[in-house]
Amino acid sequence: MLSKIGVIGGGMIGGVLVQEISRRRLARRVALMDVMPPELAKGKCLDIAEGSPVLGFDAGYDAGRSYDVLEGAEVVINTAGVPRKPKPDGTLPTREELLKINLGITDQVGAGIKKYCPDAIVISIANPLDAIVYRLKQVLGAGRERLVGMAGVLDSARYRYFVAEAAGVSVENVEALVLGGHGDTMVPIRSACRVAGLPVELFVEPDVLDGIEARTRSAGGEVVKLIGTGSAFVSPAWSALEMAEAIIYDKKKVMPVSALLEGEYGVEGLYVGVPALLGSNGVEKVLEIPLTDDERAQLDRSIDAVRNTAREVESIAGTS
Ligand code: APR
Repeated sequence: MLSKIGVIGGGMIGGVLVQEISRRRLARRVALMDVMPPELAKGKCLDIAEGSPVLGFDAGYDAGRSYDVLEGAEVVINTAGVPRKPKPDGTLPTREELLKINLGITDQVGAGIKKYCPDAIVISIANPLDAIVYRLKQVLGAGRERLVGMAGVLDSARYRYFVAEAAGVSVENVEALVLGGHGDTMVPIRSACRVAGLPVELFVEPDVLDGIEARTRSAGGEVVKLIGTGSAFVSPAWSALEMAEAIIYDKKKVMPVSALLEGEYGVEGLYVGVPALLGSNGVEKVLEIPLTDDERAQLDRSIDAVRNTAREVESIAGTS
């Protein structure tokens, strides 16, 4: 159990995070920070605290609209951002406008972490994932161990769920890895997908797997279309907590995460979805795994997309 975990952004994902951190007793205190008036963060924490006698957990909360509530947090999970929704004039913001707004929010988030919990290990969920983690790294100046993005655990969970459904087996039997950037170019690694330790092709036909991999790449959008008012929020929160628990309990668990590459896969200085070992120091190791020629080519294409996003971040940061 940690002394304190901080959550930034108390919206849909942040709300699930605070509930689960409390229920799973991951920390004695939970901090929730959100800029939303009148006092969204305080309201969400009060609601959970008032339910605590029913489920039987003791947790203390530090909630508010300023970053000082994060003081002393050992792990911080960042969900702060604005979604793509119509502007007051009814038009939708362009991708660039949205990126600019979210990078501005990320600069505030980074400054808050730096001031109040500079040694915390940071797990970032906010989208666009690749751009936000890249920017956070610049603001925090954090080494590779201390900053990590959550995307691969969720993308792989989606792949695992679809494979389990098609194979007619328990989700617990399916292992999978989805690597690369968190977007259309993500790469489900079929050669690493196993059902009860056996190659997935023994259970699911190749053309069905093609469909599953395409569905995995657009799974976030599928949920957005169905919900109508927002994006997936339970599975991203659970996925980030899978990472947090590996860190809190020093599990040395390997999972796909967005980690800073320092020469691995031929890349320097970009955050890319790769298998990494998570323990009490955060990202303790990045693993280079064998890939088929086709998977390697797909990963290279995805890395190019991540590199283009990083360039966009540089040009926006340079103009703001
Ligand atoms: N500091 C803290 N919180 C902020 C800030 C800021 N500077 N700016 C915005 N927020 C808050 C908003 O007030 C909102 O409550 O971030 C919260 C985001 O919550 P939601 O809009 O409900 O979004 P959610 O579904 O939780 O997703 C959060 O994770 O998966 C990604 O795409 C998703 O980027 C989004 C993020």
